[in-house]
Amino acid sequence: MMNQDTITALVKNALAAREKSYCPYSGFAVGAALLAADGTIYTGANIESASFTPTVCAERVAMFTAVHKGERNFTALAVVGGKSGAEVSAYCAPCGVCRQVLSEFCAPDFPVILFDGKTPKVIPLSTLLPASFGKADLT
Ligand code: THU
Repeated sequence: MMNQDTITALVKNALAAREKSYCPYSGFAVGAALLAADGTIYTGANIESASFTPTVCAERVAMFTAVHKGERNFTALAVVGGKSGAEVSAYCAPCGVCRQVLSEFCAPDFPVILFDGKTPKVIPLSTLLPASFGKADLT
């Protein structure tokens, strides 16, 4: 079970990160907060592009920032999303690409925290990405 204080801190960081979202095309702002094993919290927000496909999700911004800083051990991730300029009011689960990227560095029981503006919900990565393809398949 995740500690409630940790969940609260990660949700708060994800909500703050969401404020930095650049989403003029979708109008959907997402924030992510990734807790590393050493206690550092890495954050991200979605960043869109006029040519659409270069858009990067909040989760990958957080994950790639952390890995680039030398971190590869992660404890939990919080994700929040919703209409830009409005309060978060529904759960926003990571997209399929982000689930795959998470599985590169995180164990099946890795907790993904979602928040609807009221109640945090914790889902293990293996529930989000069952029967996954990973590094073991390449050996
Ligand atoms: N988005 C994320 O950042 N994370 C998710 O988990 C779902 C989708 C972004 C991508 C795009 O900028 C916008 O939300 C609408 O899809």
